[in-house]
Amino acid sequence: MRQREALVDGFGRIASDLRVSVTDRCNFRCRYCMPPEGLPWMPKNELLTYEEIQRITRVLVECGVRSLKITGGEPLVRRDVDVLVRLLRALGDDLDISITTNGYLLAEAARGLKDAGLDRATVSCDSLVRHRFKEMTLRDALDQVLEGLRVAARVGLTPIKINTVVIRGHNEDEAVEFAKLARATGYEVRFIEYMPLDAQEQWSRDGVVPSAEVLARIDATFPLEPDGDDQPEPSSSFRFVDGAPGRIGAIASVTEPFCATCNRLRLTADGQLKACLFSLEETDLRGPLRDGASDDDLAALAAACVASKWAGHRIGKKDFVKPARSMSMIGG
Ligand code: 5AD
Ligand code: SF4
Repeated sequence: MRQREALVDGFGRIASDLRVSVTDRCNFRCRYCMPPEGLPWMPKNELLTYEEIQRITRVLVECGVRSLKITGGEPLVRRDVDVLVRLLRALGDDLDISITTNGYLLAEAARGLKDAGLDRATVSCDSLVRHRFKEMTLRDALDQVLEGLRVAARVGLTPIKINTVVIRGHNEDEAVEFAKLARATGYEVRFIEYMPLDAQEQWSRDGVVPSAEVLARIDATFPLEPDGDDQPEPSSSFRFVDGAPGRIGAIASVTEPFCATCNRLRLTADGQLKACLFSLEETDLRGPLRDGASDDDLAALAAACVASKWAGHRIGKKDFVKPARSMSMIGG
């Protein structure tokens, strides 16, 4: 594979992690993300085909991207995601390829994804209490998600991570229960601070539970220590002092923004490149691609997109402007 210049922004950060959204649709309606009636979905012809995704991703891998994350909406509601995994795996054996899913369809998909070359799975799960899970997602699907996790672990989509968005008054009291799950299974449970990316615009600072508070709750029952082999990720990782399996992660996007070390890049399902989840601009790659752009042209567009990346988000500041599209349309 040819080598191109790395994607560097004006602050010296190098983009090496690409999140690829394959659909804006979802079979859940998490209260912090999507309204009960859903959203106006992207027209099918505006979605990148798997071959188009592969081509853009190949150019970005040539520019130094090393980790690929398949997201949505809910990625597994799009047909044959394993076909995409195979196309992406063909770009390099050393690429870290994972999926972020709500887990609802994971039990049936896991084996095929693994065989296609997927390395690991991250599953969103905000409550281990059935009626609360239903309140958070508007689907009575906790058992199915837990089964998805078990099958994913069995077929080797490991290390398994769980993403838990913590919202004040809803689930902050479950931190220790999630820690018990981590200890019993070896999963890494990552607590994410609630961000203003919901389509309903109901976010408020009062809903944010600082990661430090969640970690303190767990530490009081199961003492934690920073994990030495932390990956270069925006989440901080902890292990249990008593040596139990499993890890705890904290993604303090609001109270301790990790923008200064952010290495992420996002490709939306309709082919727009975003250097930051919160950036207001998107770089259209689909149009040029379908108009016959060369690989060099695509690389130049990506380089310009990354070069314009700003220093960091402004959540909680007076000048914060919510991006036009919400989380499910951008990809987590
Ligand atoms: N704040 C924080 N995390 C969110 N996610 C979706 N919406 C929000 C939000 N408003 C999470 C999902 C998923 C990941 C991709 O992003 O729960 O785990
Ligand atoms: Fe679907 Fe994920 Fe949004 Fe929940 S957070 S509604 S699972 S896209």
